[in-house]
Amino acid sequence: VIDIRKLYAKGDVFTYDPGFTSTASCESAITYIDGEKGELLYRGYPIDQLAEKSHFLEVCYLLIYGELPSAAQMEDFENRVTRHTMLHEQMTNFYRGFRRDAHPMAVVCGVVGAMSAFYHDSTDIFDDWQREVATIRLIAKMPTICAWAFKYHVGQPFVYPRNDLNYAENFLHMCFSVPCEEYKVQPALARAMDRIFTLHADHEQNASTSTVRLAGSSQANPFACIAAGVACLWGPAHGGANQAALEMLREIGTVDQIPEYIARAKDKNDPFRLMGFGHRVYKNYDPRAKVMQESAKEVLELLGVENNPTLQVAQELERIALTDQYFIDKKLYPNVDFYSGIILDAVGFPTSMFTPIFALARTAGWISQWKEMIADPSQKIGRPRQLYTGAPERDYVEVENR
Ligand code: ACO
Repeated sequence: VIDIRKLYAKGDVFTYDPGFTSTASCESAITYIDGEKGELLYRGYPIDQLAEKSHFLEVCYLLIYGELPSAAQMEDFENRVTRHTMLHEQMTNFYRGFRRDAHPMAVVCGVVGAMSAFYHDSTDIFDDWQREVATIRLIAKMPTICAWAFKYHVGQPFVYPRNDLNYAENFLHMCFSVPCEEYKVQPALARAMDRIFTLHADHEQNASTSTVRLAGSSQANPFACIAAGVACLWGPAHGGANQAALEMLREIGTVDQIPEYIARAKDKNDPFRLMGFGHRVYKNYDPRAKVMQESAKEVLELLGVENNPTLQVAQELERIALTDQYFIDKKLYPNVDFYSGIILDAVGFPTSMFTPIFALARTAGWISQWKEMIADPSQKIGRPRQLYTGAPERDYVEVENR
């Protein structure tokens, strides 16, 4: 590893690294990825162990504070999160300003950004207490924000949080209960949702997290920074891939259509890519995809739809791609988004809600990374350099002479 800052200070070197494929922008003690081994650790703990034995709020605690909590610490954290699940009542007016047919991700992006207008008592980034309250507020309110974006989208009244339910149960309640009928949350489905949250909670310096850090480096308030992360996550090459992957699997429709799509993915003249395949860092299997595949099977079995055609297409597509020389040579494997959409679809979410759910979960990582950055005395405002390729200096020409 070369610390480029020292060389740069001497004026010796200038790096050009589009997409930051080999540039570290920070030091971080939160998440470790070994792309060759297909390993992902949160604060040293393997993701598969956390997905099996822990739960999302404990994972939030771990990411934010660095260690697993004692029972008393967990209880205190859960209480604090639970007390903050409500949204400021005036925010309902803010929702109503959006068009009904707006994508829920657009609404989530706007509402998260607007939090600094409603909770300006937690926007001072230099105040320890305010930073802590902002952290709790974001973790606590994201399920409500996303559930209400969904409710608004489908034209149903907002459902208020229930504090006797756990984090994932409460989210399902706010999404699927209606005034005339309370949604009966199945614990196994809530557990599957919780696992999705855990698997998406952090992933070191991905595009959206880097965006949060870059925004935060200018000392913007945490709500503005997380809104920037939400916006970045939306793209189909990042968080939007879960929506795109399910839509692609549905478009393929039946296993006999798969070869045509594989051929398209390999065709250099066709911009089509297999969505949910490939990863910048994982050049072996994405460890989250393994857990997600198991979870998808469990959920479909539980719901009695194990012969789900989308799952069949997904499994067959994976099987064919993993034995195809193109995918082997380019080290393209299913990523976390390949199977998550199947679970979310089975639970009852439209594809437009997939990326907001990702944002809900990733908020844990974003806010942990933001806090780490603020506490790091070596951090400066993020200011990438460029290679200028434009015109050389020239004189202004009056319009009549152009
Ligand atoms: N299908 C077909 N070919 C692919 C795919 C794919 N999904 N992904 C990469 N390739 C090919 C590219 O065409 C390229 O080929 P070339 O070397 O002949 O030009 C090569 O593999 C490398 O691709 P890059 O785009 O340079 O790889 P990069 O690391 O920049 O991109 C990315 C990673 C964006 C994830 C990419 O694999 C992709 O677009 N995948 C589909 C979208 C997706 O699933 N995104 C979710 C990412 S995970 C997440 O955000 C949670």
